[in-house]
Amino acid sequence: MRIGIPRESKAGETLVAATPKTAAQLVALGYEVVVESGAGLSADATDEAFAAAGITVTGADEVWASDLVVKVNAPTSDEVARLAAGTTVVSLMAPGLNPDLVDSLVEAKVTGLAMDAVPRISRAQSMDVLSSMANVAGCRAVVEAAHAFGRQFTGQVTAAGKVPPARVFVVGAGVAGLAAIGAAGSMGAVVRAFDVRPEVAEQVESMGAAFVSVEMEREISSDGYAREMTPEQVAATAAMYDEEARNADIVITTALIPGRPAPQLITAETVAAMGNGSVIVDMAAANGGNCAVTETGQVVRTSNGVTVIGYTDLAGRLAAQTSQLYGTNVVNLLKLMTPAKDGQLTLDLDDVVVRGITVATGGESMWPPPAVQVSAAAPSSSTPPPAAPAPVEKAPPSPARRWGLVVGLLAFFLVTAYAPQPIPEHFTVLMLSVVIGYYVIGKVHHALHTPLMSVTNAISGIIVVGAMLQIGLDDPVIVVLSFVAVLLASINVFGGFAVTRRMLSMFSKG
Ligand code: NAI
Repeated sequence: MRIGIPRESKAGETLVAATPKTAAQLVALGYEVVVESGAGLSADATDEAFAAAGITVTGADEVWASDLVVKVNAPTSDEVARLAAGTTVVSLMAPGLNPDLVDSLVEAKVTGLAMDAVPRISRAQSMDVLSSMANVAGCRAVVEAAHAFGRQFTGQVTAAGKVPPARVFVVGAGVAGLAAIGAAGSMGAVVRAFDVRPEVAEQVESMGAAFVSVEMEREISSDGYAREMTPEQVAATAAMYDEEARNADIVITTALIPGRPAPQLITAETVAAMGNGSVIVDMAAANGGNCAVTETGQVVRTSNGVTVIGYTDLAGRLAAQTSQLYGTNVVNLLKLMTPAKDGQLTLDLDDVVVRGITVATGGESMWPPPAVQVSAAAPSSSTPPPAAPAPVEKAPPSPARRWGLVVGLLAFFLVTAYAPQPIPEHFTVLMLSVVIGYYVIGKVHHALHTPLMSVTNAISGIIVVGAMLQIGLDDPVIVVLSFVAVLLASINVFGGFAVTRRMLSMFSKG
């Protein structure tokens, strides 16, 4: 099949759906890839770079005549008209807010795959473009804020006087919020953050920010996103928003409830009470904004000197990086949908990810998809108890495991039958340790494997002791073997602790 990467028609768009690197990865999946001339110019992906990667650069007609058209923005009605029946288009689509687009794809008998409808489940993380873009945008929001703010973020004591650190308040600690917290913290700001999901407090604190808490019930829906707050919760948080924003130099708002207009959290009165020179970056501007003063796509300067930034293209302002991430998300999706790596797209609607993103196929609307239960979701009091789980069939042991068992048992019987004492005794202890170790380590949580590894490595210190007792014997073979044993066991012990130390140092500040 041929994949076409067109130039984005949206005015001012800087992104492209594939870079030379990701286009080459699509070729490795068996596809032929063609790119419209000039498609990647704003993302540092020149025609020459595509050509150097072995990708054909061509005109729009050939691109739009492809079996699979991959782009960033939803196709316009003119673009849908260019797609032949039976072809597939992959892009951001916001299908919940764009019923006309879904209808036009149905009418054109085109398969529409919405990159922004990837369900938030662990398996689909590598295809989650919204997370990729929000991550970049969160960092960029801090850069925009720093640019508009008249002071540096970090506090300093200098000969010319003391400079306090900037105080940053982040609303919403999802992907964008956490990225903003990380970026602001690394620039030296004192960061506080709030989210309606109290379970994110740990993540916020692990990034060095303080979590602002307001007493309220947990609210999370089965799809991993927040639920709309009740009027009581809104009232309880309003005073907190007002106080936090008044005390902050920078406010970055990212509060989102998917498929709904953004909740308005920062009132005009609060903005009017903020200090001269303060900055608000409203990341939810495209959905109406979290701040009453925000103007979508604009920068507003209030009479009391507050700058309110409502850019909707924060991710596009880092076009090369965002395009690379978007392209990689597309590659990961097509890896899933091209199991044989033969350049043939397989629409397996039994796969929850594929079903989730398919908005239309074969002249039928597939939107909305059935709800997906994610592990992050906590059951709310109003949620009915889940149905009893279906009985799970136990997977049969793999052939390698079965053969390992047979060989182990055979070796055990041969050794106990023919080897002289005390070898059978030691061998029995060894075999029992292998079995017990297998089951014990299998039950240890993955996060604890590193400390477990260094502790178990240290157990080989017993080999060092044993070998040192033997090394004084007259037999040169025993001396050599003991020396090698001391050497290897010591590497094991000290290496284990060195690796653990290195990993732990990644988590320690400074
Ligand atoms: P997300 O769903 O990961 O995070 C949103 C967070 O807001 C969640 O943690 C949720 O619990 C929280 N939230 C919801 N209602 C809240 C409330 N009333 N008060 C406090 N927290 C609340 O979403 P993500 O991916 O982080 O995106 C955040 C926003 O950034 C979205 O509005 C998205 O459209 C926007 N965005 C903007 C870009 C731009 O260029 N301006 C680029 C990318 C994303």
